Amino acid sequence: MKLVTCGLPYANGKAHIGHLRTYIPADVYVRYLRLKGEDVVFICGSDCHGTPIVVNAEKEGLTPSQLVNIYHEHFIKVFDALDVKFDFYGKTVEDYHHNRTKEIVKKIYENGYIYSKEIDLAYCPRCERFLPDRYVEGICPYCNVPARGDECDQGCGRHLEPGEIKDPRCKICGTPAIFKKQTHYFFKLTAFKDFLEDYLNKVQGTENAINYAKQWIKNLRDWCITRDLEWGVKFPIDERYVVYVWVDAPIGYISFTEKAVKDWESIWKEGKAEIVHFIGLDIAYHHCIFWPAMLKAAEYSLPTAIVASGMVKIEGKTFSKSRGYVVWVDDDYLRANLNPDYLRYYVASYTSHERDLNFSWDAFREKINRELIATFGNFLYRTLHFAWKNFGEVKMNVDNEILEKIRDVRKKIEEFLKKWEFKSLCDSFMELASFGNVYLQSNEPWDLVKFDRSRAERVIANCLQIAKALIILAYPVMPRSMKKVSECINLNLEKCKLDDVEKVDEKMKVEKPIIPFEKVDEKKIDELKKVVEKRFLREEVSIEEFRKMDIRIGRVIKAEKIEKSKKLLKLKVDIGGEIRQIVAGIADNYKPEDIEGKLITVLVNIKPVKLMGVESNGMLLAADVGEKAVILIPEKEVEPGTKIK
Ligand code: 2FM
Ligand code: ZN
Repeated sequence: MKLVTCGLPYANGKAHIGHLRTYIPADVYVRYLRLKGEDVVFICGSDCHGTPIVVNAEKEGLTPSQLVNIYHEHFIKVFDALDVKFDFYGKTVEDYHHNRTKEIVKKIYENGYIYSKEIDLAYCPRCERFLPDRYVEGICPYCNVPARGDECDQGCGRHLEPGEIKDPRCKICGTPAIFKKQTHYFFKLTAFKDFLEDYLNKVQGTENAINYAKQWIKNLRDWCITRDLEWGVKFPIDERYVVYVWVDAPIGYISFTEKAVKDWESIWKEGKAEIVHFIGLDIAYHHCIFWPAMLKAAEYSLPTAIVASGMVKIEGKTFSKSRGYVVWVDDDYLRANLNPDYLRYYVASYTSHERDLNFSWDAFREKINRELIATFGNFLYRTLHFAWKNFGEVKMNVDNEILEKIRDVRKKIEEFLKKWEFKSLCDSFMELASFGNVYLQSNEPWDLVKFDRSRAERVIANCLQIAKALIILAYPVMPRSMKKVSECINLNLEKCKLDDVEKVDEKMKVEKPIIPFEKVDEKKIDELKKVVEKRFLREEVSIEEFRKMDIRIGRVIKAEKIEKSKKLLKLKVDIGGEIRQIVAGIADNYKPEDIEGKLITVLVNIKPVKLMGVESNGMLLAADVGEKAVILIPEKEVEPGTKIK
């Protein structure tokens, strides 16, 4: 048996394409295992604790519990829409999860791996409280980059222990924090050095995660596992505290398994199953170091594989919600009514699992229209349409060389699956589709059928066998579309096994085929691109960057139309002791006489350009309300030349 898990999403924000880097390949993996006939349990759930949730709930005026319920439902909806089908999707706020966490923490304590110690902790004198994790911001002591209380997310990626961060400030009120003493509880991580060294040499998975973890082994430190917070799982040894979220979150893998299968102990206590964790590389440290050590200390079974995906870029830029480099799964992708299978295919096939994936709308359109539809969709449709139109039922005399090709591709796919190479696996079925296209094109059954019907039938039988193999082999990646096409050849995909790709039926009945994939509409993509571009504009700028811009109030002294241009006006603008010529695209909304004498706002130090041959030496600022610009005017009379700050 295999247990496959995915990193638990924090229930404090919407699903974005970055999330899918874990969930889609994991779902594809599980579906292939099931096709191979393996017994698999697939679980995940919402990570509901930790300071990000408390901080966000405070910001949105909700209780943490209300906030996590909203996003828990959101994730369920998104997974459902993308056909990511967990056997159980839990929530770490539930009693069953709290109970399992307490049981495990107690066990670790009884086994002698937890001790208490007084430490210096960041404290906000204004809010009069200790500042755990995300309540504090400062500078990473290792790489001097701005960091959060418990992780250096923008720099070296290290997990930071309480009290470690330099120049701490309270995240809520901005006051510089002071350090105060408080007793906390520590997990003796250092006692697991030899165990972890050995474990990391044995565990399977992707090299990115395992090699990353190996470099930290030399510098292990004991781990503070309690927090002074209300929200979380009570620390069973001292209920003034809750456990750190990274203690209880992975225990969700166990508590959710309990809900999914009766005999969960055979998996988590008796080592009778393989345990495969799909995660993002950013949480490799937690899964390769903290988690196996905790399991060992509590006498539970260890994960057999840790599979970490690379991160996601949006239009070539490092993913960042605050900077607007984000594509939301629901608001952007699903709302545009795009086929969920296209996103599944893109994510699975764009690049090797360990590398960074760039999501770009242009690349998405090309990949779907020119690759998936032109090769795969085209072959399926031409084959099925020809078979239906000319035969209806085809005698399946399939050549050995065709079966060999199919066998060869199937073998490759199984090999790639073992190495978590989802891209190569997709490339393999695409290669079979190309082979099918070449075979169909060079054998021209549409000519043969006119004078040698039985040879034409033989050719199309070969194509149908390839089509059936393709439908089965691509089903884990594109379940919804393959299910629809499978109905045209009366194939019950739910009962199919991988072996069926090579099984030849005596006859195949072909129904009127559907078009397997609709083309991605250019206009829709252009609109989606604009949505992302608009968000990009929200990139944070420092005050120094803003100060580089010389923005001033100016008075329009003269305005005239530019010949041959419908949009442009040529303005002479007094910017305070200097008259500038500025060309502005406002003629749709303003006649020269409307604007003469008016105060306007001008970016003065923009590089000069020529528009329709006329030099423009500054830029008029206006609100972009679609077709027509609306100029910005100061609310009171001010002198031309007055600076904007
Ligand atoms: O980084 C995150 O999004 C965490 N919520 C992942 C938790 S995974 C596991 F340990 F539960
Ligand atoms: Zn750092």
